[in-house]
Amino acid sequence: MARPKTRYRCSSCGQVSLKWGGRCSACGEWNTLQEETSSASNPSGPSKARTVTPTPLQEVVLGGGGEVRLRVGIGELDRILGGGLVAGSLVLIGGDPGVGKSTLLLMALDALGRRGLSTLYVTGEESKAQIRLRADRLGIAGDGLQLLAETDLPAVVEAVRRMRPAVLVIDSVQTLQDPDLQSVPGAVSQVREVAGRAMELAKGEGIATFLVGHVTKEGGLAGPRLLEHLVDTVIYFEGDGRSSLRMLRAIKNRFGPTGETGLFEMRDRGLVEVPDASARLLQERVPSASGTAVVAAVEGSRPVLAEVQALVGPPGLGSPARTAVGLDRGRLMMLLAVLGKLGLPMGERDVFVSAAGGLRLVEPGVDLGLVAAIASSFRDRPLDEQALAFGEVGLVGEIRAVGHPQLRLKEAAHHGFRRAIVPASGDIEPPPGLELLRVRTVREALDALLT
Ligand code: TYD
Ligand code: MG
Repeated sequence: MARPKTRYRCSSCGQVSLKWGGRCSACGEWNTLQEETSSASNPSGPSKARTVTPTPLQEVVLGGGGEVRLRVGIGELDRILGGGLVAGSLVLIGGDPGVGKSTLLLMALDALGRRGLSTLYVTGEESKAQIRLRADRLGIAGDGLQLLAETDLPAVVEAVRRMRPAVLVIDSVQTLQDPDLQSVPGAVSQVREVAGRAMELAKGEGIATFLVGHVTKEGGLAGPRLLEHLVDTVIYFEGDGRSSLRMLRAIKNRFGPTGETGLFEMRDRGLVEVPDASARLLQERVPSASGTAVVAAVEGSRPVLAEVQALVGPPGLGSPARTAVGLDRGRLMMLLAVLGKLGLPMGERDVFVSAAGGLRLVEPGVDLGLVAAIASSFRDRPLDEQALAFGEVGLVGEIRAVGHPQLRLKEAAHHGFRRAIVPASGDIEPPPGLELLRVRTVREALDALLT
């Protein structure tokens, strides 16, 4: 009989070592080595392998009719799912605590229930009464919706197998626990187990499953991006607490485009879709103030016009503050360096920038508008109110073309802008009523905008 052999596997990177240690030698994570027992390898030589045969691609038989889509009936959610929820798919919804994940999913199950589908909401964080209160607040009748308040993973799996709902929500992956694993809920091994069992339910029983995951302080979903490779779709629900706007962002989707976004507003009685993001974001714009510019961004396939604001302080002593809210701080540092080369010395000044309205703008097309807002604050001169800008700024101050120029311009014209500062490269046709100013460099752009 082979003697069982103990080895230790890192729950973060999977590295196996024979000796236990506080820190994984491969990835450097602390307290991730977990004991595994396996039989020692066969002393009489390698065990016999099964014989497996590959299949020619052309001979692979497709299941009838491809994937089945369940329209949720919440337009913004269906859109980022790629046209509805795919039966048997596993969707991870991540986000900060309090952003509205449970609210969104309760609304989604209600909408699905109204279409005659059976749904099950498993809550490991809240009591049934709390969910009921939320439902009442949302005005949800809850047709076909079953609730289960349980944290024991095997019990949940058994209940799901018995009930076989069409759509399942597990809220959250961090609160369920498999008692066979000697770790606390939320530990990497537990989270992986819960997700693995959810995957079995989704694929094995054809149950479309939403898995909720809280984002940790470091910005990862419990454990270093542990589940993203496993699930079919990863959606992040973003909001920054400054505003009631919330953005859903698909960062992975096996059944649709990635990068797609959906916009909601959290109101007293639940999440309300925001189909016209630009109107909402420009609503509080301060006209003829220095330090603000309008950018035409594209998030996913959705054009959004948004105001970016900058505040440049007077020269000071010590290390200057550099703060970016809703914008990329690394990008800000780079743009300040470019402006420094153009004779706008930012070195000793505090610089604060923010994307107004509470959205996170992460695409490079916002560079040009941001540079313009910073320069406008620096010179204390407002920009042309009727103008907006888009374009990526390169390291030597050149303006580079960005995707979907036509979509951005159409949105600009639609919202009554008269002039657009755009990259000179690229084939761009202005829509009626919009004058184009094509610029090659940041200097050209500032000359055009700041006179
Ligand atoms: P919740 O869905 O519980 O967030 P998560 O599941 O992501 O942790 O939403 C919590 C917040 O939303 C809470 O601060 C209250 C607020 N909220 C509203 O403003 N309006 C509503 O109708 C609901 C249900 C919640
Ligand atoms: Mg919740």
